Amino acid sequence: MQNQHEQYENARKRTKQKKRLYFHFILFVLGAITLAILNKGLGIGQDIINNWYLIVIVIWAFLFLIHVVNVFITNRFFGKEWERIHTDKILAKHDKKVAKLEGKVLKEFNIQEEVTSYQKNKQMITIIAAAAENNEIGKDNKLIWHLSNDLKRFKKLTSGHAIIMGRKTFESFPKALPNRTNVVITRDRNYTAENAVVVHSLEEALEITTEDSQPFIIGGGEIYKQALSIAHRIELTRVHHPFEADTYFPELNKSWKEIAREECHKDEKHEYDYSFITYERV
Ligand SMILES: NC(=O)c1ccc[n+]([C@@H]2O[C@H](COP(=O)([O-])OP(=O)(O)OC[C@H]3O[C@@H](n4cnc5c(N)ncnc54)[C@H](OP(=O)(O)O)[C@@H]3O)[C@@H](O)[C@H]2O)c1
Repeated sequence: MQNQHEQYENARKRTKQKKRLYFHFILFVLGAITLAILNKGLGIGQDIINNWYLIVIVIWAFLFLIHVVNVFITNRFFGKEWERIHTDKILAKHDKKVAKLEGKVLKEFNIQEEVTSYQKNKQMITIIAAAAENNEIGKDNKLIWHLSNDLKRFKKLTSGHAIIMGRKTFESFPKALPNRTNVVITRDRNYTAENAVVVHSLEEALEITTEDSQPFIIGGGEIYKQALSIAHRIELTRVHHPFEADTYFPELNKSWKEIAREECHKDEKHEYDYSFITYERV
């Protein structure tokens, strides 16, 4: 629509320019005749400069020529349309360069396959966890520490998204977490959960959350282990302290690259130092 409107505006402008040129031409012809009559016929100004009408006509003809050039060359080839065509050409060249660079980077870091699978699904499957120095994440079906900033971050990141968890993690909460689609995985076909969707495998959990651009896998240990091979990103809170535990976060191999880190120090509300670390699969 915008393109059509631009074309229409351009055509209207060109017609106006040509019309003005045509009037200029008529005026020039009539003016030249009038000047010749005044100078030659009536002898006006003959005593000052002989044949002055010729000088005026030549200057006017020169100005008329500039007008012609303006209408048929400058405005035609260097007007808005010309600008648009050339901007498009420059942008196309730029896009080509960027695509070439992207190809090089993907090849260099060998990430073609992962990026393609992520793009294909248009989903960023994200593991979110808090693990201590030795990957401890829980004991007796409870969390081992309380870090209010970590809980706030968890809430901020996961709100509005699906949260996928194992049955034991779900049962460690007093109730389903609000403002999120709670998805609980269990092998028990008779299991029911209030305000949560019950599924029977991680694959099934991901199938029912395909509409979500970033479903979060929130634990616990068993589910993290299974999710590691299909996740694209990990949001990990590393608590810099050792703890006694019975559940652990899996060891990350070299396919996970740290892309962001925020160091936080202990204070009156936080008993331990901790870091927010984001990993992405390369
Ligand atoms: N620090 C953290 O970030 C964090 C986060 C979450 C949890 N946690 C902690 O982790 C602990 C719980 O973790 P967990 O490893 O014991 O349990 P979990 O992973 O939360 O849940 C395990 C249960 O999930 C179901 N399940 C697992 N794999 C399945 C599969 N392939 N198909 C169908 N069902 C499957 C089974 O339920 P059924 O037995 O019903 O079949 C299994 O018993 C708690 O201490 C919790 O506080 C820590």
